[in-house]
Amino acid sequence: MTADSGAVRIGLLGCGTVGQSVVRWLDEGGATIERASGHRLEVGPILVRDAARPRPGVDPALLTTDPARVLDDPDVSVIVEVMGGVQPTLDYLRRALERGVSVVTANKQLMARHGPELFDVAQASGAELRFEASVCAAIPVIKVLRESLLAAEVTAVTGIVNGTTNFILTEMARVGLGYEEALARAQELGYAEADPTDDVGGADAAAKMAILSSLAFHSRVGIDDVPYEGIDDLQPEDLAQAADLGFVVKLLGVARSQAGGISVRVYPGLVSRGHRLAAIGGPDNAVLLESPTTGELMLVGPGAGGDATASAVVADILSVLGTHQGSFLHNALADSGRPLMPPDEVTSAFYVRLSVADRPGVLAKVASIVADEGLSIRTVVQSGTGDEARLVLVLHEGRERQMKAALARVSEMDEVRGEPVVLRVLGTGEGEP
Ligand SMILES: NC(=O)c1ccc[n+]([C@@H]2O[C@H](COP(=O)([O-])OP(=O)(O)OC[C@H]3O[C@@H](n4cnc5c(N)ncnc54)[C@H](OP(=O)(O)O)[C@@H]3O)[C@@H](O)[C@H]2O)c1
Repeated sequence: MTADSGAVRIGLLGCGTVGQSVVRWLDEGGATIERASGHRLEVGPILVRDAARPRPGVDPALLTTDPARVLDDPDVSVIVEVMGGVQPTLDYLRRALERGVSVVTANKQLMARHGPELFDVAQASGAELRFEASVCAAIPVIKVLRESLLAAEVTAVTGIVNGTTNFILTEMARVGLGYEEALARAQELGYAEADPTDDVGGADAAAKMAILSSLAFHSRVGIDDVPYEGIDDLQPEDLAQAADLGFVVKLLGVARSQAGGISVRVYPGLVSRGHRLAAIGGPDNAVLLESPTTGELMLVGPGAGGDATASAVVADILSVLGTHQGSFLHNALADSGRPLMPPDEVTSAFYVRLSVADRPGVLAKVASIVADEGLSIRTVVQSGTGDEARLVLVLHEGRERQMKAALARVSEMDEVRGEPVVLRVLGTGEGEP
């Protein structure tokens, strides 16, 4: 297999949930990646166990069961490891790095157990080893720790780094489900594996905290250095008691750097309802980074999923390759040619407050004007009486020009006093301004 002249070939180890998303991203995002970085990427040989099984969007001719076809291909510039497991993965990555081929991996267990050893091999050969996707999928927490906070002294990393357990705990607290029922629901929705042991027992979070604390504190913390407890023994009664006391229960990764040294632990803990991490619900992940220099930074987002993980893999590929002179990331002169929308065409939901004379039919008139302009009402609150009455409407998402047209007509109604007050509404689950 020979690379297109000028193309950068990316070999893959694994083509499952994450691997297939990576192939799709590289294919669909190829033009953007080339414009941004100056590199034309080409997916090269892909190692799988069963090459006869078709995978949507993947050229079957690229699939192989022979690791040497990926590891020893002289045209492969970067190897993406998305096969998981510790062996034979460790041997494969060592072999690639020894040859000077850069590696991007999503494998937290491998990095938490053998990261230092792989870095040593990479260091010796001059290859790069990147692993953003190994912790919290699309959340760029490794980039923030490695680059943005490089010179800051990070003193604490507190994370909800396992989406499965966060979903289960959220469901237990929200609808009072027992642990088993909440786990079954997580499995039904694809938030938990058929064998959830690593997630619910805390081992997955421990691996991620080993990686994060190593970076945050510039130390070598391995998975065996992280004591962990899971959520499998939690009783609904304790969640209810915690709620009564003003707390929510979360599976926390807690890493601290103190005068006496570093501590890294994973445990189910009570979080005060006013704390930022208390609001992180469902399968989301969040990491709170504390430093005397920067204060608190919190990163939140989906911590798993093929596409979310692939986005971190693709970002790592690009950071390994760097940018060519003239590409837009190189000099920040980005222009994709997309037009700016006229402000009147932008959509949002609206809050409108009117002072009205309390006469029969006022609300019906307002509602009719609103509907006539193509908008619809989500909520109405009427208060006060006589000439001092107040009508508050929350409108579903609509265009700015529809809202302006409706307000101009409403303002002309005899019953309306003064200027209407309009505010845009976020968080309705509709489009944002
Ligand atoms: N899924 C997520 O949301 C997520 C999020 C963050 C990180 N990750 C990490 O990403 C990695 C991949 O996860 P995934 O969910 O994509 O796994 P997956 O769906 O099970 O895919 C694994 C792929 O690797 C191949 N493979 C496994 N062992 C192999 C071996 N010994 N030799 C050759 N090929 C082998 C499999 O081949 P066959 O297809 O032939 O079986 C499959 O294509 C793991 O390290 C995981 O922890 C996943």
